[in-house]
Amino acid sequence: MKPIIAPSILSADFANLREDVLAAVRGGADALHCDIMDGSFVPNISFGPMIVRTVNEMTDVMLDVHLMIVNPDKYVPEFVKAGADLIYPHVEAPYDIYRTVQLIRDHGIRAGITLNPGTPLETVIPLLDHVDTVLIMSVCPGFGGQKFIPSALQRIRRLRRLLDEEKPSVTIAVDGGVSRDNVAELYRAGARHFIAGSSVFKAEDIEGAVRELRTIVEALE
Ligand code: DX5
Ligand code: ZN
Repeated sequence: MKPIIAPSILSADFANLREDVLAAVRGGADALHCDIMDGSFVPNISFGPMIVRTVNEMTDVMLDVHLMIVNPDKYVPEFVKAGADLIYPHVEAPYDIYRTVQLIRDHGIRAGITLNPGTPLETVIPLLDHVDTVLIMSVCPGFGGQKFIPSALQRIRRLRRLLDEEKPSVTIAVDGGVSRDNVAELYRAGARHFIAGSSVFKAEDIEGAVRELRTIVEALE
């Protein structure tokens, strides 16, 4: 599978959302990442299905929806309707996550599962028949612009080995502090889906920032 560059719109300028999104798409974004935060699962509130729908109307690229919410089951149908192509709930959500990932697939889209930095990798094993992607958080979720946690690299390497044994078709995504400085190392560790917020949308040249990430990973293919 071709590596995916997925700029996270959380760091975009919401007064100029269309311009920012279209610049990322011109730079070669394969997906746009939408961070949904409810103020309970994480200490921040972001946006909901209305913004996802708005972004979906701006472009044809795939929409990645990261659910940092306590009750993902309740909102899956709405995000699917808004245009989500891949939904990642958290394994730490206080509901039956096994049911949630099945619910996502029952809606005809791809399912992911997200792990916080302190969550054991083995927690995904029972879910592997029901997910397409495992998302490794390389910051504590809740805010854009945080510093990359270096131990994420070792976790990605270990997870890749585990997936190769258990379910090789599952891909690894990484989210938090991803930039041109660590994307090559993340690729070598086994990640193929790169979520980048501030390194793209806070850059002077959004289009160029996406293109640079793309060029770095393509050179490693
Ligand atoms: C953090 C979010 C990330 C965030 C990444 O909770 O899940 O998707 O937007 O932003 P950066 O790349 O700035 O760490
Ligand atoms: Zn995210």
